[in-house]
Amino acid sequence: MWAGELAFVERLLEKDLRNNSAWHHRFFVVFERGSESGEEVVKNELSFAKENISAAPNNASAWNYLRGILDHKHIPYSTQASFVKPYTRTSASGQEDVVDLEDPLPSKDAELPAAAAIEFLADIYEAVGRGGLPNATELWKSLANEHDTIRKKYVVLLGHLLDTETLVQTTASDSALTAIVAARARYTTANPGVPLESLIIYVTSQTHSFGKKAALILGLHVRAIDVDEDVRAGWGLDGAKLRQSVKEDRDAGLHPFILVATVGTTSTGAIDRIADLGATIKEKFPFLWLHVDAAWAGVTLSCPEHREKAQLAGINEYADSLCVNFHKWGLTNFDCSALWVRDRGLLVNALDVTPEYLRTKHGDAGTVIDYRNWHLSLGRRFRSLKIWFVLRSFGIEGFQSYIRRCIALSDVFAKYIQESDIFDFVAPPSFALTVFRIAPASEPNADLAQLNDLNRAFHEALQSHHAELVLTQTEVGGVFCMRLAVGAARTEERDIVQAWTIIKDVAEDVLRRWKDGKLEPKN
Ligand SMILES: Cc1ncc(COP(=O)(O)O)c(C=O)c1O
Repeated sequence: MWAGELAFVERLLEKDLRNNSAWHHRFFVVFERGSESGEEVVKNELSFAKENISAAPNNASAWNYLRGILDHKHIPYSTQASFVKPYTRTSASGQEDVVDLEDPLPSKDAELPAAAAIEFLADIYEAVGRGGLPNATELWKSLANEHDTIRKKYVVLLGHLLDTETLVQTTASDSALTAIVAARARYTTANPGVPLESLIIYVTSQTHSFGKKAALILGLHVRAIDVDEDVRAGWGLDGAKLRQSVKEDRDAGLHPFILVATVGTTSTGAIDRIADLGATIKEKFPFLWLHVDAAWAGVTLSCPEHREKAQLAGINEYADSLCVNFHKWGLTNFDCSALWVRDRGLLVNALDVTPEYLRTKHGDAGTVIDYRNWHLSLGRRFRSLKIWFVLRSFGIEGFQSYIRRCIALSDVFAKYIQESDIFDFVAPPSFALTVFRIAPASEPNADLAQLNDLNRAFHEALQSHHAELVLTQTEVGGVFCMRLAVGAARTEERDIVQAWTIIKDVAEDVLRRWKDGKLEPKN
């Protein structure tokens, strides 16, 4: 009876080799009807599946049959690697003359690569463990983004890493630290044997101090590429400077593995040229992870008119991770820092530590996301709720108009500075930040030290108005200066006018005393 059944199934498949029910029934007849299937049977069925795959490489049923046999008999997928690989290539050309009965090649006119083959090979790499994950990741990515886009969500659901993901972390500093740890794991996995002490983090002279702190915590070198002169013109790092730094460091035996770039530096609001950096990394240094710190200015991406300046195209195309703080200029109270990663698998692979007491059925099955593997701490606060409340109460348009209003108010202040003959910009106004100092037109010969003394005295004098106005100071390439940033939802134009009045009056008074030689020089 069973022999007849098999012949029947074979006829069905001859008529239509994509008949999924026939494939299922064949599996039942051969493997599940009760009698034990021996080695010879397994060999036959493997050949049968492969011949059918060869005839129609995109026939998912035949691939599933192949998987079914291997699963049923506990045979590792890796035994089929040499069969599968030709089906993952883009063409079968050049293989026409090769005949391999055991591992038949794709038919001549086959449409390649076959998505099922890519998936199969990704599974083979994933089974290898950590060392195979970068290859598996690339394959899953190519499936989700190119060869099997319709199943993208499914691939993500299966937990095969990939795909972008955003996680609300504590701070921009923690977000950067997390990205650096993931970048380090990616680099050391791809370059086993590289001594940890030769790894080096890239930041710029204008990156927030977290870059150097992260290096301290991780015990790694850090290089702050000097961009102090460039930020006076509003821009930070570009590809040329990056190329030069990488060359110098690699010649010296060091291994740069991450670049922390900034959109809107703390000090001056300067912007690193993300598209240029990303293209340079892609072409010359693909081992470098690109983390974009947009902790402050990232919220401007909510407004279409600011997206070009805020480097959206470069971020979208090249960034491996991006941080935007909602607790800075996003109407949310501390702490609330959104960290986006292009490939969450790299983060999880770097940080997944699962002792017995943290194992769960769903965690083991990979059907839940374990956020504890995305950062150092085990527990987490429900920070996204805060963003939800902000967006619910402001709405997207409300949020956008808040950002626009801050920038418009900042422009009001910047115009005062521009029109004044005692102040000057130290860097071009950036979004809602103005960086300025006293540099009187009447004193063209004053040198840097004198002007710094003058401005330090000015800043000190401003402190006596602390009830109404607190201005933070900074230094750019040795130039001491003041920063005024608009960010509060309740700030109005009259506040800006009041701030300007105080700033101007105090500056005029300090300048008068400076000219009269009545200012104490400061160190
Ligand atoms: C551009 C930028 N990045 C990072 C930080 C650090 O932010 P956090 O306190 O969230 O670590 C700041 C804070 O001023 C910042 O301006």
